[in-house]
Amino acid sequence: MTRAGQITWVGQSARLPAGAEGLEAVDLGGRLVTPALIDCHTHLVHAGDRSAEFEMRLLGASYEDIARSGGGIHATVLATRAASDEDLLAQSLVRVDDLIAEGVAVIEIKSGYGLTIGNEIRMLRIAREIQNLRPVKVITTWLAAHAVPKDFDGDQDAFIDSVVIPGLRLAAAQGLVDMVDGFCETIAFSPAQISRVFDEARRLGVPVKLHAEQLSDQKGALLAASYGALSVDHLEHLAPEEASGLASAGTVAVLLPGAYYMLRETRLPPVGALRAAGVELAVSTDCNPGTSPISSLLTAMNMACTLFRLTPEEALVGTTRAAARALGLAGEFGTIDRGARAELAVWNLTHPAQLACRIGGSPLNRRITDMRGR
Ligand code: NIG
Ligand code: FE
Repeated sequence: MTRAGQITWVGQSARLPAGAEGLEAVDLGGRLVTPALIDCHTHLVHAGDRSAEFEMRLLGASYEDIARSGGGIHATVLATRAASDEDLLAQSLVRVDDLIAEGVAVIEIKSGYGLTIGNEIRMLRIAREIQNLRPVKVITTWLAAHAVPKDFDGDQDAFIDSVVIPGLRLAAAQGLVDMVDGFCETIAFSPAQISRVFDEARRLGVPVKLHAEQLSDQKGALLAASYGALSVDHLEHLAPEEASGLASAGTVAVLLPGAYYMLRETRLPPVGALRAAGVELAVSTDCNPGTSPISSLLTAMNMACTLFRLTPEEALVGTTRAAARALGLAGEFGTIDRGARAELAVWNLTHPAQLACRIGGSPLNRRITDMRGR
């Protein structure tokens, strides 16, 4: 039962509370109904194409080689800076529409391809504009600590002092920052440098999350947990014994099997240890032009099952309840419970396993939504 876009009662129709008789009933024909899906980690606002790097990797170059030689994130930074606002928005909406066609109602979108204060803020502004145009809620994340632009000559600290931190203050003052993220990796920022960014986020009262342990073990995940991070993301190189530290901080582990797949990684995230420690597991597309050019959350769910051995139910929790927690939206999105927003997906299916099993096409029957897009 819903009222004004909120779920007010859940149960069997025989037990409907008094006063429900006057409400409009919708017969969903016995179809599977889930909370509308949540893509909790994307870089979907960007321009350009990196398929040439895909070819280079297939010929033997590594992601790190390409990044160090000026490709990778830097290639997308150049394309994104060069695109007009209209073009950047139009290119991004194509990916948003792919997600919406699969029942997605909430999308997290990171900056990180601007790398100047003005261009990082522009990315977040365009990300926010999406929710005026489509029936989705957008959560925006400040990820200026994604790569060091060429003109800083590898001086990460100078970049943090002159762009990441002052830009964060400015973007937060403009109400554009829901969360702060960083890329903690040998080719990006050290844990000590990430700490400086997180200290500023804490001063501003903005929650944090971190790209951690994707390509090597930098001990970023535990650092993020010490700041009460909402999530740590990737985690292929997380030491299994560190799972309990994430559990006690209530930090969600966001699994990104699309990046694992595209980079042809072989080291699996320690899913068993995370599960045993009681860490909530979320699943996301990591939609980006380099490591995960994927705008299908259902495909990411399939990969989480086939590559990381999640059960289909875990994959569904990973794109609903756990994904909501990873965005600070627990209780509001991602569950069918009293008090939650009435954002639902109705599927031409009868069992959650069917959602994660199939690749290609969308089994979405309809969204039940209170959101409006133009
Ligand atoms: O999540 N790890 C860092 N950021 C992205 C990749 C961005 C890119 O290569 O453009 C990721 O994998
Ligand atoms: Fe990412």
